[in-house]
Amino acid sequence: MAEKTWGGRFRGDTDDRVVAFTESISFDHRLYREDILASQAHGRMLAEIGLLVGDEAEQICAALDAIAAEIESGNFQFSSELEDIHTHIERALIERLGDLGRKLHTGRSRNDQVSTDVKLWARSALDQITTRLVDLQKSLMAAAERDREVILPGYTHMQRAQPVLAAHYFLAYIEKYQRDCDRLADCRRRVNVLPLGTAALAGTSIPIDRDSVAHQLGFESVAANSLDVSSDRDFVLEFVFDLAIVALHLGGWAEEWILWSTTEFGFLQIPDSFCTGSSIMPHKKNPDVLELIRGKTARVCADLQRLMMLVKGLPLAYNRDLQEDKEALFDAVDTVTVSLEAAAGLIRETRFRREAIAARLEDGFLDATTLMEFLVLEGVPLRTAHETVGKLVRHCEERRLRLAQLPVEVFETIKPGLGQRVYGVLGVYNVLAAFKSYGSTAPHEVERQLMKWKKILS
Ligand code: ARG
Repeated sequence: MAEKTWGGRFRGDTDDRVVAFTESISFDHRLYREDILASQAHGRMLAEIGLLVGDEAEQICAALDAIAAEIESGNFQFSSELEDIHTHIERALIERLGDLGRKLHTGRSRNDQVSTDVKLWARSALDQITTRLVDLQKSLMAAAERDREVILPGYTHMQRAQPVLAAHYFLAYIEKYQRDCDRLADCRRRVNVLPLGTAALAGTSIPIDRDSVAHQLGFESVAANSLDVSSDRDFVLEFVFDLAIVALHLGGWAEEWILWSTTEFGFLQIPDSFCTGSSIMPHKKNPDVLELIRGKTARVCADLQRLMMLVKGLPLAYNRDLQEDKEALFDAVDTVTVSLEAAAGLIRETRFRREAIAARLEDGFLDATTLMEFLVLEGVPLRTAHETVGKLVRHCEERRLRLAQLPVEVFETIKPGLGQRVYGVLGVYNVLAAFKSYGSTAPHEVERQLMKWKKILS
């Protein structure tokens, strides 16, 4: 029988099926670095309180470094018999140091250990995702500057609504990804609270110094209630929720660009390097990368769902169910990481087909709302103006005309004296120039936003 860290009260071997069913090493091996860092901090603290003496803590830290190197070299032997990463590393330490290795687990439990490891892992994952979000924002900024003169039709309900500057369009996503960064920063505050030292569930009679461990590991504070902490996975749920929003933002944008790259829209030229072909239809160039970004959103949302169901109805304190949190967390982080990288690459490489966009820009009455607002500013009550312009649009549709092509007499019947001035708000260029409100697509507003973001992102 392989020596178990908990083998004392057991007689006989664990059933093979149970070994296979309960192991987590097949996925929690990813926590080896965090487990070693936390163990080294714990060891140094044990020396500070006098439970390790002489150079014992240094010996433990050096042996743990050697174990890390062995894992990194690929020579470390993993086995389901040893359940999880914590047991593997402790066992390897005992193999190297004998009785000294058997002292390290003093005053801690795998329950606070796993939570500490996951928090350390989540903290760096969170920082890594934030870096990629900022890189994506930079790619959007570059696109906004490159295409600052381009005018796009803006849509609601996927129907042409009002014109927008392409820079305004890209800045919209910069804002969304900024909220994602802010959410992650907020989540980080709760991740950065040290669980270690709460032991199994009730704390410990060993006079440990949790502040020392917190300080060594860069945690801002120490969790206050041991019972709470050994069951707390809020931070995993929160982090994955934040990732799900990132994925949803990416998925919505991917859908938009898939549509924009169709023959029907013809707005985008996606480079060959970001497309794949068809094995039967020789002419096809498919936006698979965008489709996968859209498709992978499902994984991240499902990861969140899985975590919420995992903690549903769990009593205090640690329950083995919690072992199931890691795969969902890892998958969500991995998925969002690759999606963010692909998205930033696509945005850097893709170009608008400016002529195709411009050729049909005056279609779809993008100036109707501004005409209505012009009438309001001329003293026509809003509801009357709405009705009037609605009738003009119908009239134009029947005759295949644009609003700007209506003769001046038509406008004179609405309100005598409007004369030629009304043509000053018709057509997309005039419409854009007419925008005034803060946060709108008015060129001066967009310019101000560009300056602001340029400073933030440089
Ligand atoms: N592998 C476990 C997990 O991931 C570690 C904690 C196990 N604790 C225990 N008492 N069985 O949650």
